[in-house]
Amino acid sequence: MKTALITGVTGQDGSYLSEFLLDKGYEVHGIIRRSSVDFRERIAHLEGKPHFHLHYADMGDSMSLVKVVGMVRPDEIYNLAAQSHVQVSFDSPEYTANVDATGVLRVLEAVRACGLEKTCRIYQASTSELYGKVEEVPQNEKTPFHPYSPYAVAKLYGYWIVKEYREAYGMYCCSGILFNHESERRGETFVTRKITLAAARIAQGPQDCLYLGNMSSLRDWGYAKDYVECMWMILQNDQPDDFVIATGVQHSVREFAYYAFLHAGIELEFRGEGLDEVGVIRSIDTSLSTVNCHLAVGNIVVRVSPDFYRPTDVVNLWGDPTKAKTVLGWNPSKTSFEQLVKIMVDSDMAKVAAEGAAMKVRTNLAEYLEKGIVK
Ligand code: NAP
Ligand code: GDD
Repeated sequence: MKTALITGVTGQDGSYLSEFLLDKGYEVHGIIRRSSVDFRERIAHLEGKPHFHLHYADMGDSMSLVKVVGMVRPDEIYNLAAQSHVQVSFDSPEYTANVDATGVLRVLEAVRACGLEKTCRIYQASTSELYGKVEEVPQNEKTPFHPYSPYAVAKLYGYWIVKEYREAYGMYCCSGILFNHESERRGETFVTRKITLAAARIAQGPQDCLYLGNMSSLRDWGYAKDYVECMWMILQNDQPDDFVIATGVQHSVREFAYYAFLHAGIELEFRGEGLDEVGVIRSIDTSLSTVNCHLAVGNIVVRVSPDFYRPTDVVNLWGDPTKAKTVLGWNPSKTSFEQLVKIMVDSDMAKVAAEGAAMKVRTNLAEYLEKGIVK
């Protein structure tokens, strides 16, 4: 039985990768950090399983990493932990560098300190943000990097230090240069999930309007479940190497919003430009019982807010997954853009409906208590 250690196990990718490796028969260990609310939503269903183990450690704390690596003695490490929000990296640049750049070095050094450099394979969660202010489209493994945020600059260090340790010490360590990948478990402040949650809430009532930043930004969006499979495939390759992981299909934030709202029963029409652009309801699918009856054609449900503009924004990401397809045999077309939007909207429609039902029960209960019906 192989043993894997996952940093960032509580994140979107960490949770899917844990499920994937457990299904493959791995012993899975994850590192977690203490938080004041100790409910790890994405992996709650895995806790207590016999081959799933959690350990406290932090990417900013070398000793904790050495201790866990030495105790687990993993065959494979998936380094997914990061301050992963690009906009937040402008507010917390030093913290981002510590976790996303020096943190990678700490993992590599922990492996060496534990004498595992000849046996342990390491996957580094690299990113299409390295291409930043892009120098060519689509981007492949040979495209020059031009990082364009504190996050991307930190991740570039991670990419180079992995390459350096591969060459200097003969370690099996690789970077997956992953383009954006989303899911129903995506953090709620990334643009896709912010949109699908808002579409569900606006369709069902509890929200009036969605505020976005640059809607013209282009991304190559894939499904996180498909991408964790490729992380594993990268580590099964005979030679350590770096790979671009993408779908090869590009859409704008505006298009994502259009399809998400459409799937929630609201057809949008975009009018105006820049900060004055708005998303207006063109039609409503009244056959959907979930659609809020207070909505009307002509209502503005999407607006632009400068709060969500970035000091420098990456606006043209489009990946070329040819190498992953030919060398690893990975299929980049498993889940289409339309399917991804549907998966996310369906999940958020159900979540919002459940929240509404729970709210109703609480309101009814309060009313009953007040009237003395329930004591
Ligand atoms: P995510 O949902 O934000 O998860 C990040 C994980 O890192 C969480 O488990 C978080 O723990 C952990 N973490 C953050 N700081 C830490 C620290 N100081 N010590 C230990 N753990 C820490 O990110 P994701 O979307 O799953 O992405 C996984 C990795 O892939 C990240 O490195 C990201 O930069 C990279 N990436 C993501 C994408 C994408 O589109 N999703 C694309 C390219 C690359 P808490 O739960 O305790 O906060
Ligand atoms: N978050 C957010 N919120 N982004 C918005 C908004 C908004 O309200 N409005 C427009 N955008 C634009 C951003 O300016 C950006 O151009 C694009 O939508 C995507 O933003 P995010 O979803 O926050 O993702 P990201 O591309 O910056 O970063 C994600 O993908 C990277 C890979 O390319 C993260 O997962 C990174 O960790 C990852 O490395």
